[in-house]
Amino acid sequence: MSQEPAVGTGHKARAKRTAPAIVDMKRRGEKITVVTAYDFPTARIADEAGVEMLLVGDSVGTVMLGYESTLPVTMADMLHHVKAVTRAKTSALVIADMPFMSYQASVEQAILNAGRFVQEAAADAIKLEGGERVVDAVRGIVAAGIPVCGHLGLTPQSVLAFGGYKVQARGEADQERLIREAKALEAAGCFALVLEGIPAKLGGIVSRELAIPTIGIGAGVDCDGQVLVTHDMMGLYLGKTAKFVRRYADLGTGMREGFAAYVADVKAKRFPGEAESY
Ligand code: KIV
Repeated sequence: MSQEPAVGTGHKARAKRTAPAIVDMKRRGEKITVVTAYDFPTARIADEAGVEMLLVGDSVGTVMLGYESTLPVTMADMLHHVKAVTRAKTSALVIADMPFMSYQASVEQAILNAGRFVQEAAADAIKLEGGERVVDAVRGIVAAGIPVCGHLGLTPQSVLAFGGYKVQARGEADQERLIREAKALEAAGCFALVLEGIPAKLGGIVSRELAIPTIGIGAGVDCDGQVLVTHDMMGLYLGKTAKFVRRYADLGTGMREGFAAYVADVKAKRFPGEAESY
């Protein structure tokens, strides 16, 4: 019954996936799947479907909280959602996304905020955006024993600097810089690297140059894994989705039809029926 606590619903936990195990998948040539999750049931359903990593993205701001960008998302918002996801006790590795201004001001602040995700919210790893400018923070967080996932290309927290959500690294100089930054993040200790909104060919080059797995979103089929925002792929995002999104279900239409049928039933006194009454 929906009033009972959701924990202990018969979920059969598989062995927990770890950052080294994810790196191993690349060595074996096995593609890695990642989706975003911001709540307990989505985490559990994606885990049961075999997804290997769950990203509690700061995309929670745009797809769940109604913000126009990820910039207003705070540590408090993120901790709330990371806790909901880790309560699902998934086999999938849970990555907490560090929100805007939680790691940019100083390395010390970056380490302390990354630590909060592990200590208070039981995250398995953190993700942060940027290249050379975050390398010291990555080194510090990794030294504290926290696995770090990098993020290059169309990094949404830089939307103001980019002047919009535009494909990045189209020119030769930008491509060379991105490859250099990817290598710097790997050298700093990242266990994985998200590549977002870059030419597919560049996604392939970076993936071949690195020993750690690349996780693409709009970065081509040659990345070592793929990530999609759950609300985009399930038809639950109400705004315009990017070209790289493939829709795997239309839950938005299903919900709209379900709500409409409920409204009609209540108005016509068809709900509740005898079976739903005491
Ligand atoms: O916040 C997020 O969902 C992300 C993915 C788009 C990679 O960073």
